[in-house]
Amino acid sequence: MRAMESFDIAVIGAGAAGMMCAAVAGQLGRRVVLIDHSPRLAEKIRISGGGRCNFTNLQAGPANYLSANPHFCRSALARYTPRDFLALLKRHRVTWHEKHRGQLFCDHSSESVIDMLKAECDTGRIAWRRPVAVDAVRHQDADGFALDTNAGPIGARALVVATGGLSIPKIGATDFAYRLAKQFGHKLVDTRPALVPLTFSTDEWAPFVPLSGVSLEVALATGQKKTGGEFVEDLLLTHRGLSGPGVLQISSYWKPGEPICVDLLPERDATADLIEAKTGTKRQVGSLLAEWVPARLAHVWLETHGVPVEARIADLPDKTLRRIGEALKRWTLTPNGTEGYKKAEVTKGGVDTRELSSATMMSERVPGLYFIGEAVDVTGWLGGYNFQWAWASGVAAGQAS
Ligand code: FDA
Repeated sequence: MRAMESFDIAVIGAGAAGMMCAAVAGQLGRRVVLIDHSPRLAEKIRISGGGRCNFTNLQAGPANYLSANPHFCRSALARYTPRDFLALLKRHRVTWHEKHRGQLFCDHSSESVIDMLKAECDTGRIAWRRPVAVDAVRHQDADGFALDTNAGPIGARALVVATGGLSIPKIGATDFAYRLAKQFGHKLVDTRPALVPLTFSTDEWAPFVPLSGVSLEVALATGQKKTGGEFVEDLLLTHRGLSGPGVLQISSYWKPGEPICVDLLPERDATADLIEAKTGTKRQVGSLLAEWVPARLAHVWLETHGVPVEARIADLPDKTLRRIGEALKRWTLTPNGTEGYKKAEVTKGGVDTRELSSATMMSERVPGLYFIGEAVDVTGWLGGYNFQWAWASGVAAGQAS
């Protein structure tokens, strides 16, 4: 039997949150071991932001996160801000640019963020154990935690769980954090795929399949009433349903069975403009609508709403134009599901934060046990918010553990 190696802190999961936490704790003089089962380091950072990692958002604040406990993220986000991460990038000479609404991306490659975090871990003299699988974890009260791994037993005074959520299982996502949380008596908030494309039944979607690839800016909301977020962003039609940034955003608020509402013309009073077009024109409704939204969508949308594309606007009663105008502002569709964890950028739900300290991420049940990053029930909007949570929660636990 191999002798047990002993550390101050064992961090399981060498992704965004785990590497940040390990680096901070190591640089504070703790002896830290960082364990990951994946042969490739931080694969989610690598593939993020189309390979350029949208590593934060200048506007990140509690309002950009979903959680059963909405105030939980406040403390960590306030103590480690996007500006702090920018200072770190500057020290490592990683250059970046703003793309859209405060979203910051690497100029070159997401690899530079991984290299930076690895260098920070090395400065903190982190002991790397990867690829290494953790088979079992035991809590031994005053002695901390004992981990059985396929590289031998590891002991640590504190244990930080940073194994992320369920999205993209093929690059190593597991339910490890949830299983461990349950083992130690923690509650979970139901998990589901978020920031994910929405799908429709084959019959309902059939008319739109030929429009795959069409995109336009719209306003989106969930439910009959505005129950959650409302976003003005691009929508993309796919062969199975709807995607694009606006749909990914709304997917985090969408509940199965609920409709979503699309305003195809967020900048326009469609009814007034249709009625105005009645006078002094022989235009067909299809050709006018094709000036407002992509022509192929205009035609299919009119057909599915029972309006002949060639109908002359001047011949249509105001009542019909009002109906068309209102439907353009409130295109209501009911998804039959999502593309699931294989396509979801994040997992909504997770370890219930009501039993964690918002200042340190430590369990209120088991002293010395911490949960950070996507494993906990804090889900950011699309646009760099999820990494900002990973950095901030990692720093909070790294300083405290
Ligand atoms: P993360 O998933 O990064 O790390 C978890 C680590 O734990 C992994 O290294 C994994 O191998 C390891 N692990 C899992 N189970 C284990 C086990 N049983 N034993 C040992 N190790 C285990 N966010 C954002 O803000 N901007 C962006 O641009 C993007 N882009 C993006 C694109 C795509 C395609 C996806 C899927 C996701 C994004 N995200 C994003 C979301 C972002 O990647 C995510 O929120 C963070 O990586 C979460 O960081 P964590 O460290 O919590 O988990």
